[in-house]
Amino acid sequence: MNPLDQFPQIVGRLSHIGPTDPSYLQVHKKVLELTGIDLNAYKRQQMLRRLDAILTRCQLPDLSALATALKPGSPVLQEFMERYTINVSECFRDRPRFEMLAQQILPELLKRNQTIRLWSAGCSYGAEPYSLAIILRELHAARATILATDIDPKILTMAKAGESFTSNDFKNLPKDVVSRYFTPIDNSSNFKVADTLKSLITFRQHNLLVPAPENNFDVILCRNVTIYFTEEAKDHVTAHLVNALRPGGVLFIGETETIHRPARFGLTLRSTSFYERAA
Ligand SMILES: C[S@@+](CC[C@H](N)C(=O)[O-])C[C@H]1O[C@@H](n2cnc3c(N)ncnc32)[C@H](O)[C@@H]1O
Repeated sequence: MNPLDQFPQIVGRLSHIGPTDPSYLQVHKKVLELTGIDLNAYKRQQMLRRLDAILTRCQLPDLSALATALKPGSPVLQEFMERYTINVSECFRDRPRFEMLAQQILPELLKRNQTIRLWSAGCSYGAEPYSLAIILRELHAARATILATDIDPKILTMAKAGESFTSNDFKNLPKDVVSRYFTPIDNSSNFKVADTLKSLITFRQHNLLVPAPENNFDVILCRNVTIYFTEEAKDHVTAHLVNALRPGGVLFIGETETIHRPARFGLTLRSTSFYERAA
């Protein structure tokens, strides 16, 4: 007996679905067309568990019914996006690493280069690129730009508006910094970001599984985006990101993530979460 059969609630009712199952292929094709998300890039059990949760939530009997129900603007598509593009974030997430960026990495780069270019890849509702913008303003970096991208168009609209911040976002920020860059919105518990931060950032939609939309970046942040991806998909993302870095540029990843054998990509580990592209 397969030991996993004893744990159907963990494996889920889709555990028998293989990568060539016709109903899975229908869903895969529809999702790719509508969202650009490639389900094959996700670790299989994780991916099936999320599809299973969508079936339950949308009261659909099977994957064929899901493929039919996935339509532009439909509640099922919305549910799908919520399950797959987990948008959890916060300002200065993993603060010690942001301190390293603010106190060592960016000052060094600013000394070395006339202009610096940063990319927040998988920026969610903007907490990460706005954190970068705060650092640049506090460092009085005159010539610096930030590109912020995400696959999810809805979350990008929120990021651009810069009005989705709550007090939860500010756990890692001193009060004076919060009051310099965020204003409470009337009749709401949300805060609005200052225009001085917005003006540093360009937002655009981008899927990290395809080559980068721009290159010559000094620093690229790709944090907590690929944790559920297969090793193969992670390698594709890393290769695209390294191609978009200037020689000597820095790749900043999430605190629970590592790049296996970074030399394959021409990277060396500089310190926890920071990898440098060979100059
Ligand atoms: C958990 S959030 C991470 C936000 C931020 N980087 C941080 O660490 O706080 C992951 C983000 O990655 C985005 N994402 C997922 N797959 C992606 C892909 N293939 N290409 C670009 N963005 C993707 C999601 O839409 C989501 O907003």
